[in-house]
Amino acid sequence: MHTPVLLKSAIENLEVKKGGTYIDATYGEGGYTKEILNKGGRVLAIDLDPGQIESSKIKDDNLTMVIGNFANIEKIAKDNGFEEVDGIVFDLGLSMGQLDFGGRGLSYNKPDEEIDMRIGQSDEMKASELIFKLKEDELYEVLAKGSEEIKSKDIARSIKGGKKIKTVGDLIKAIDRAVGFKSRTVYARIFQALRIEVNHEFDNLRSGLEGAASLIKKDGKIVVVSFHSLEDRIVKSFGRKHGFKFKNEKKHDKGERRSFERSAKIRTLYYE
Ligand SMILES: C[S@@+](CC[C@H](N)C(=O)[O-])C[C@H]1O[C@@H](n2cnc3c(N)ncnc32)[C@H](O)[C@@H]1O
Repeated sequence: MHTPVLLKSAIENLEVKKGGTYIDATYGEGGYTKEILNKGGRVLAIDLDPGQIESSKIKDDNLTMVIGNFANIEKIAKDNGFEEVDGIVFDLGLSMGQLDFGGRGLSYNKPDEEIDMRIGQSDEMKASELIFKLKEDELYEVLAKGSEEIKSKDIARSIKGGKKIKTVGDLIKAIDRAVGFKSRTVYARIFQALRIEVNHEFDNLRSGLEGAASLIKKDGKIVVVSFHSLEDRIVKSFGRKHGFKFKNEKKHDKGERRSFERSAKIRTLYYE
């Protein structure tokens, strides 16, 4: 869950109207949904992780919850009677609960967990299988693209050159060998890059935004909270392509999210 500062700005930008319809594309632990409901909005909440929806404590007549991928937002919305909406929010990344209790090797602080990293229930490859399958130069591409870490080449070599990587601890050791010292910043970047690849996060975001454009009313708002420049670039180019105006803010998420880049960007997209 976010610190109030981030939540407050994102919700303000959504300009929730009483009786309006909204999609929370990344339900998580429900912080955004709760605020929209409190302001009198009707909400369709989506999360790819079944655990997030199943453990939800929010019950409200104005809330519909769906386990699904926001890449399919248009279909999910229409299937649930949300044809045209006043606002859509994407709060990208992971929640604290997923990092700490997910048991899927998403956090570099959990050395004994297998690096699975799949957010949803899918037949996709686990991160450990992906690392095993990729050749060194392919792994380098994945790491460099998703992390912009300058040591990506050395890290790919170290990962492929040592014993088979199964757990978070194995991966950390391979990173340490390549970097020469322990760096939480590098761990966070490399974990992020693998997670992006395993879950096709960039493709999901592109499809999700396209779907959002087809659902949003002319005077509606799409709010995207992102934590790294790679995602923000996707949002920016999508917005330009569809003729949206932008309102941009940088906010510091001082509290709970452990990210190598703690400053969040809130981009609000709207038509003039
Ligand atoms: C940062 S958390 C959201 C936190 C939420 N705003 C709150 O207040 O608790 C991001 C959530 O997005 C979900 N998610 C990630 N990729 C997704 C996707 N493609 N479709 C739907 N949900 C996704 C994650 O499972 C996670 O619960």
